[in-house]
Amino acid sequence: MNKRIAILISGGGSNMVSLAESMVGDHPARPVLVLSNDTEAGGLAKASAMGIATAAIDHKPFGDDRAGFEALLKTELENADADLICLAGFMRILTAEFISRWEGRMLNIHPSLLPKYKGLNTHARALRAGDKMAGCSVHEVTAALDDGPILGQAQVPILPGDTADTLAARVLPMEHRLYPAVLRRFAAGDRTPVYLKS
Ligand code: GRF
Repeated sequence: MNKRIAILISGGGSNMVSLAESMVGDHPARPVLVLSNDTEAGGLAKASAMGIATAAIDHKPFGDDRAGFEALLKTELENADADLICLAGFMRILTAEFISRWEGRMLNIHPSLLPKYKGLNTHARALRAGDKMAGCSVHEVTAALDDGPILGQAQVPILPGDTADTLAARVLPMEHRLYPAVLRRFAAGDRTPVYLKS
Protein backbone atom coordinates (compact mmCIF):
# COMPACT_ATOMS: atom_id res chain seq x y z
CA MET A 1 0.00 0.00 0.00
CA ASN A 2 1.56 3.36 -1.03
CA LYS A 3 2.26 5.87 1.71
CA ARG A 4 0.02 8.95 1.46
CA ILE A 5 2.11 12.16 1.50
CA ALA A 6 0.95 15.64 2.48
CA ILE A 7 3.33 18.39 1.33
CA LEU A 8 3.22 21.70 3.23
CA ILE A 9 4.46 24.82 1.44
CA SER A 10 4.48 28.60 1.88
CA GLY A 11 5.90 29.78 -1.43
CA GLY A 12 6.70 28.83 -5.03
CA GLY A 13 6.85 25.11 -4.29
CA SER A 14 9.84 24.01 -6.40
CA ASN A 15 10.70 21.33 -3.82
CA MET A 16 7.04 20.23 -3.79
CA VAL A 17 7.17 19.81 -7.59
CA SER A 18 10.36 17.72 -7.43
CA LEU A 19 8.84 15.51 -4.71
CA ALA A 20 5.54 15.06 -6.56
CA GLU A 21 7.26 14.32 -9.89
CA SER A 22 9.39 11.64 -8.18
CA MET A 23 6.42 9.74 -6.72
CA VAL A 24 5.59 7.59 -9.77
CA GLY A 25 6.00 3.97 -10.85
CA ASP A 26 7.45 1.75 -8.11
CA HIS A 27 7.89 4.68 -5.70
CA PRO A 28 6.43 3.62 -2.30
CA ALA A 29 4.43 6.85 -1.88
CA ARG A 30 1.97 9.20 -3.59
CA PRO A 31 1.16 12.87 -2.98
CA VAL A 32 -2.41 13.27 -1.67
CA LEU A 33 -2.41 16.91 -0.53
CA VAL A 34 -0.48 20.15 -1.01
CA LEU A 35 -1.34 22.64 1.70
CA SER A 36 -0.18 26.23 2.20
CA ASN A 37 -0.49 28.77 5.00
CA ASP A 38 -0.45 31.45 2.28
CA THR A 39 -3.51 31.52 0.00
CA GLU A 40 -1.39 33.26 -2.69
CA ALA A 41 1.46 30.70 -2.66
CA GLY A 42 2.55 30.01 -6.25
CA GLY A 43 2.99 26.33 -5.47
CA LEU A 44 -0.76 25.76 -5.06
CA ALA A 45 -1.44 26.35 -8.76
CA LYS A 46 1.51 24.10 -9.68
CA ALA A 47 0.08 21.29 -7.52
CA SER A 48 -3.39 21.69 -9.02
CA ALA A 49 -1.88 21.54 -12.51
CA MET A 50 -0.30 18.19 -11.47
CA GLY A 51 -3.74 16.94 -10.38
CA ILE A 52 -2.92 17.00 -6.65
CA ALA A 53 -5.59 18.14 -4.15
CA THR A 54 -4.76 21.46 -2.54
CA ALA A 55 -5.80 23.44 0.52
CA ALA A 56 -4.90 26.83 1.95
CA ILE A 57 -5.27 27.98 5.54
CA ASP A 58 -4.39 31.65 5.98
CA HIS A 59 -2.44 31.82 9.26
CA LYS A 60 -2.75 35.61 9.61
CA PRO A 61 -6.27 35.77 11.15
CA PHE A 62 -5.01 33.42 13.89
CA GLY A 63 -2.29 35.80 15.07
CA ASP A 64 -0.47 34.03 17.94
CA ASP A 65 -3.14 31.31 18.18
CA ARG A 66 -1.01 28.52 16.68
CA ALA A 67 -3.28 25.83 18.14
CA GLY A 68 -6.24 27.38 16.30
CA PHE A 69 -4.35 27.28 13.00
CA GLU A 70 -3.20 23.72 13.67
CA ALA A 71 -6.74 22.53 14.45
CA LEU A 72 -7.70 23.32 10.83
CA LEU A 73 -4.43 21.83 9.60
CA LYS A 74 -5.21 18.63 11.54
CA THR A 75 -8.64 18.41 9.89
CA GLU A 76 -7.17 18.79 6.37
CA LEU A 77 -4.55 16.10 7.09
CA GLU A 78 -7.18 13.73 8.45
CA ASN A 79 -9.48 14.35 5.47
CA ALA A 80 -6.57 13.50 3.16
CA ASP A 81 -5.76 10.48 5.35
CA ALA A 82 -2.06 11.47 5.19
CA ASP A 83 0.57 9.03 6.53
CA LEU A 84 3.62 11.31 6.24
CA ILE A 85 4.21 15.08 6.06
CA CYS A 86 6.92 16.74 3.98
CA LEU A 87 7.63 20.36 4.92
CA ALA A 88 8.86 22.01 1.70
CA GLY A 89 9.55 25.70 2.22
CA PHE A 90 6.85 25.80 4.92
CA MET A 91 7.66 28.89 6.96
CA ARG A 92 5.35 28.42 9.97
CA ILE A 93 6.87 27.04 13.18
CA LEU A 94 4.69 24.18 14.43
CA THR A 95 3.92 23.63 18.10
CA ALA A 96 5.58 20.85 20.09
CA GLU A 97 2.12 19.36 20.62
CA PHE A 98 1.48 19.11 16.87
CA ILE A 99 5.00 17.79 16.19
CA SER A 100 4.69 15.13 18.90
CA ARG A 101 1.64 13.70 17.06
CA TRP A 102 3.66 13.42 13.83
CA GLU A 103 7.07 12.51 15.30
CA GLY A 104 8.82 9.99 13.04
CA ARG A 105 6.38 10.80 10.23
CA MET A 106 7.40 14.38 9.30
CA LEU A 107 10.39 15.58 7.22
CA ASN A 108 11.80 19.01 6.46
CA ILE A 109 14.36 20.38 4.00
CA HIS A 110 16.70 23.09 5.26
CA PRO A 111 19.18 25.06 3.09
CA SER A 112 22.32 24.49 5.15
CA LEU A 113 24.66 21.66 6.21
CA LEU A 114 23.02 21.05 9.59
CA PRO A 115 23.76 21.36 12.44
CA LYS A 116 25.31 24.57 11.04
CA TYR A 117 23.04 27.56 10.50
CA LYS A 118 19.69 26.54 11.93
CA GLY A 119 17.00 29.17 11.24
CA LEU A 120 17.05 31.81 8.54
CA ASN A 121 19.56 33.49 6.16
CA THR A 122 21.67 30.36 5.98
CA HIS A 123 23.65 31.25 2.84
CA ALA A 124 24.55 34.77 4.03
CA ARG A 125 25.78 33.28 7.32
CA ALA A 126 27.91 30.65 5.54
CA LEU A 127 29.48 33.38 3.40
CA ARG A 128 30.09 35.65 6.40
CA ALA A 129 31.81 32.75 8.20
CA GLY A 130 34.12 32.21 5.21
CA ASP A 131 33.00 28.60 4.72
CA LYS A 132 34.30 26.62 1.72
CA MET A 133 31.23 24.37 1.39
CA ALA A 134 27.49 24.92 1.72
CA GLY A 135 24.45 22.81 0.97
CA CYS A 136 21.16 21.49 2.25
CA SER A 137 19.84 18.88 4.66
CA VAL A 138 16.71 16.77 5.01
CA HIS A 139 15.89 15.90 8.59
CA GLU A 140 13.10 14.45 10.69
CA VAL A 141 11.12 17.20 12.42
CA THR A 142 11.36 17.35 16.21
CA ALA A 143 10.32 20.05 18.69
CA ALA A 144 13.72 21.81 18.46
CA LEU A 145 13.90 23.88 15.25
CA ASP A 146 16.00 22.33 12.43
CA ASP A 147 17.41 19.83 14.96
CA GLY A 148 15.96 16.36 14.21
CA PRO A 149 17.88 13.30 12.93
CA ILE A 150 19.53 14.04 9.57
CA LEU A 151 18.40 11.75 6.75
CA GLY A 152 20.38 13.34 3.93
CA GLN A 153 22.77 16.11 2.92
CA ALA A 154 24.01 17.58 -0.33
CA GLN A 155 27.16 19.68 -0.57
CA VAL A 156 28.13 22.45 -3.02
CA PRO A 157 31.31 24.54 -3.14
CA ILE A 158 31.23 28.20 -2.20
CA LEU A 159 32.94 30.05 -5.05
CA PRO A 160 34.81 33.36 -5.08
CA GLY A 161 32.40 36.27 -5.57
CA ASP A 162 29.42 34.27 -4.36
CA THR A 163 26.47 36.16 -2.92
CA ALA A 164 23.62 34.67 -0.90
CA ASP A 165 21.57 34.62 -4.12
CA THR A 166 24.18 32.91 -6.29
CA LEU A 167 24.76 30.35 -3.55
CA ALA A 168 21.02 29.74 -3.13
CA ALA A 169 20.77 29.20 -6.91
CA ARG A 170 23.52 26.54 -6.66
CA VAL A 171 21.97 24.82 -3.64
CA LEU A 172 18.32 24.70 -4.82
CA PRO A 173 18.89 22.16 -7.66
CA MET A 174 20.61 19.93 -5.08
CA GLU A 175 17.54 20.25 -2.84
CA HIS A 176 15.45 19.00 -5.78
CA ARG A 177 17.65 15.89 -6.02
CA LEU A 178 18.13 15.25 -2.30
CA TYR A 179 14.56 15.49 -0.98
CA PRO A 180 13.08 12.94 -3.46
CA ALA A 181 16.00 10.55 -2.80
CA VAL A 182 15.44 10.73 0.96
CA LEU A 183 11.65 10.41 0.69
CA ARG A 184 11.91 7.30 -1.50
CA ARG A 185 13.93 5.58 1.25
CA PHE A 186 11.98 7.00 4.19
CA ALA A 187 8.59 5.99 2.74
CA ALA A 188 9.96 2.44 2.44
CA GLY A 189 10.99 2.51 6.14
CA ASP A 190 14.71 2.97 5.36
CA ARG A 191 16.42 5.72 7.38
CA THR A 192 19.87 5.18 5.83
CA PRO A 193 21.16 8.72 5.12
CA VAL A 194 21.64 9.94 1.54
CA TYR A 195 24.76 12.01 0.74
CA LEU A 196 25.13 13.92 -2.54
CA LYS A 197 27.91 16.12 -3.96
CA SER A 198 27.47 18.54 -6.88
C1 GRF B 1 14.06 26.21 -0.13
O1 GRF B 1 15.34 26.72 -0.29
C2 GRF B 1 14.00 25.44 1.16
O2 GRF B 1 15.22 24.83 1.55
C3 GRF B 1 13.68 26.52 2.13
O3 GRF B 1 12.74 27.35 1.47
C4 GRF B 1 13.01 27.29 0.06
C5 GRF B 1 11.68 26.92 -0.55
O4 GRF B 1 11.73 26.89 -1.89
N1 GRF B 1 13.13 26.02 3.39
P1 GRF B 1 10.48 26.28 -2.72
O5 GRF B 1 9.22 26.95 -2.23
O6 GRF B 1 10.45 24.80 -2.50
O7 GRF B 1 10.80 26.65 -4.12
